[in-house]
Amino acid sequence: KLKVLKTPKEWAKLRLEILSGGQSIGFVPTMGALHVGHLELVKASLDQCDFTIVSIFINPTQFNNPKDFETYPKTLEKDLALLDENGVHAAFVPNTETMYPTSTEMTLSFGKLEKVLEGKQRPGHFSGVGLVVSKLFNIIKPQVAFFGQKDLQQIAVIKRLVADLSFQVDISVVPTKREADGLACSSRNVRLSPSERKIALVLFKSLSKAKSELLAGENWFAVRQAVESDFQNILSTELEYFELVHPESFALYSSFDPNQKSSLCVAANVGDVRLIDNLPVID
Ligand code: PAJ
Repeated sequence: KLKVLKTPKEWAKLRLEILSGGQSIGFVPTMGALHVGHLELVKASLDQCDFTIVSIFINPTQFNNPKDFETYPKTLEKDLALLDENGVHAAFVPNTETMYPTSTEMTLSFGKLEKVLEGKQRPGHFSGVGLVVSKLFNIIKPQVAFFGQKDLQQIAVIKRLVADLSFQVDISVVPTKREADGLACSSRNVRLSPSERKIALVLFKSLSKAKSELLAGENWFAVRQAVESDFQNILSTELEYFELVHPESFALYSSFDPNQKSSLCVAANVGDVRLIDNLPVID
């Protein structure tokens, strides 16, 4: 049966029991509104670790847009039932006062990672992610923490955080889970109307098309221009960026080189829902 913990103290007690039994602890941080994508992380943790703890906390410090924070879906009871059904051992569900007892002025900077894509479009976002994940690592103290490739730049940020602050945790990366038609699973998908849901497929379609064109030797700028005009032709979508990057440094490429690691990254608004996705071109 799932144990629901609300404070670091409750977890600290349970954690000692787990460790004295010699068990390893896997941790899956989330903001709730759980879907099959989150469950892939849960499965990986159940596979690799003896004890799995999932946190659910909608972290206010990572939302640069107040409306996005207010409209973020909240489905706690359903989430806890889903975790229980899937064999998760514990859920850490703190409230804002527990995580931020005093309003903090601390910020974290990730240098070049802040200047492109999500870093550039969402000022302060990665500072908030870095802050809350640091706090969660200090509270949970897991051996392994699981993150989804869906948020590729977040993974780069977390890996820098772990290296720069010497967190004693292994970061395990889980591939992006998609709907049958290819749309990446996301908590924000529930905010799409049925017609927007269909339109939203343009993100994955444009990534797939661009990938095969690049592999066929087409020029990167021509490929991107075609994607930009595809988006322009679809009402109620607005392309924010479509970039070819190195998947760890997030340096932007100005041409495609099949001998270097690369990923395509996209962000676009469909109606008033902001979606992101990415696809590796060369692994
Ligand atoms: P959230 O958006 O809830 O995502 C929690 C984890 O699930 C992240 O590691 C994310 O990459 C992963 N995930 C989401 N959709 C996925 C999909 N379709 N396939 C695979 N993995 C997927 O990311 C956050 O929350 C927050 O920034 C957090 C790290 C919890 C800090 O607040």
